[in-house]
Amino acid sequence: MKLQDKNATNQNTKRVTSILLMFLVTITALAGVAYNLGISNTYSTTKQVSLLFLTIILLGVLVVYLYTMSASKIFTMSKQLICFVVYEIIIVCITFLVTQSYLMLPILIAPMLIALVVDIGFALVSNMFFSIFASLLFVDNRFEILIFYLLGGSIAALLIKYTKSRKNIAVVAGILIIVNVTNVLLLDLYIYDNFYGMHFLLALLNAGLSVIITIGMLPLFETVFDVVTPSKLLEFSNIDQPLIKRLLNEAPGTFHHSQMVASLSEKAAMDIDADHQLARVASLYHDIGKLKRPEYFIENQEDGINPHDELAPENSAMIILSHVSDGMILANEYKLPTAIKNIIKQHQGDALLRYFYNKAKNGAVGNEIISEDTYSYRGPKPQTREAAVVMLADSTEAAIKAIPIDTRSLENMEEMISNVIKTRFQEGQLDESNLTINELNVIAKAFLQVYKGKDHTRNIKKL
Ligand SMILES: [Fe+2]
Ligand SMILES: [Fe+2]
Repeated sequence: MKLQDKNATNQNTKRVTSILLMFLVTITALAGVAYNLGISNTYSTTKQVSLLFLTIILLGVLVVYLYTMSASKIFTMSKQLICFVVYEIIIVCITFLVTQSYLMLPILIAPMLIALVVDIGFALVSNMFFSIFASLLFVDNRFEILIFYLLGGSIAALLIKYTKSRKNIAVVAGILIIVNVTNVLLLDLYIYDNFYGMHFLLALLNAGLSVIITIGMLPLFETVFDVVTPSKLLEFSNIDQPLIKRLLNEAPGTFHHSQMVASLSEKAAMDIDADHQLARVASLYHDIGKLKRPEYFIENQEDGINPHDELAPENSAMIILSHVSDGMILANEYKLPTAIKNIIKQHQGDALLRYFYNKAKNGAVGNEIISEDTYSYRGPKPQTREAAVVMLADSTEAAIKAIPIDTRSLENMEEMISNVIKTRFQEGQLDESNLTINELNVIAKAFLQVYKGKDHTRNIKKL
């Protein structure tokens, strides 16, 4: 089966990408260890060899972890993993420069940045890596370095990840200061049976500065690595965003269609553990290209006037098909993030515009050849699970709306959803998306659940 062949290719891509990236991480880590050994004349050979092996084992755990991540995640994460490598180099360098106190190491920034730009699981594992690595490399290898950063870093990553708005950053900083100060107090009492004011001050500064630096560096990471963070996505989903406002005013039908597609995609992406925020926000923008000629799209034809009645099928197709390229022009103009632009480009795949293709074929005279190319979207097919979810939600929304409201029952909606997904699958539109067959079933169930919870069900006949 095509889908399975594609998954096999993605598995290979996953292997190659993770091996390459881990090669980079390994080189940096070993370079750090080598440098440390070079400047530490006091290290015995036994100590040097042990440090080397401990580092290798530590890296081994990280490689295994990366290897267990889903193929699509590792594939879309390559850029973010480079952030990780860059940060690793920064930490290694600073660990050598700072010799006064372990409380001055900038380790807390890493789990927070990784939680924001990659994901929470990877942030926690990376923090473990950085904490152990720093405790191994820092001048006198004390175990409180490990405890302090393991606890502080994990809490920092969780706090920042689940803080919905950047406005709550002061709260994150406040909590992290309390966490850090408590950690250092308990560690001091445990180790020295005493506590030191200087440690308090350094722990407090470390927490506060780490949060400020993370937030300060975030736009740079977003721009340089072109990653889209949850808070950036949240900004783009705001109703005050110019393109969303334009949809509401100039193409209200498309605006409502997009809102419904967003609800469907969000639920389905959540259920298959894909990036549900990206799927939701990209859905809000997927049809912005319709702003160029809104009246040519059925959802905006309120008065029953259909301009396509007056057009040759070829011209109609040209207008409908160009909503993807028109969308890309607007997306560039309004500087939408690449992740959203990719979904706009891929949401129709290279599907055939069957209605106008058939209309042209039926109206063909003599030996006139009607080419499928003229009536097909230019593609590419969805390249990620999120893009595929948006495609399926989009087709489902249009198909369900086409069922007359008085005949709309849960039973026939379920059948329609399953037909839409089956058709897209058979057309090969999902071949490059990395979705599994099992995930297609989960998506179908998620769509039905959204409809069950919507107002439409008020008019739905009881089963
Ligand atoms: Fe579309
Ligand atoms: Fe659409």
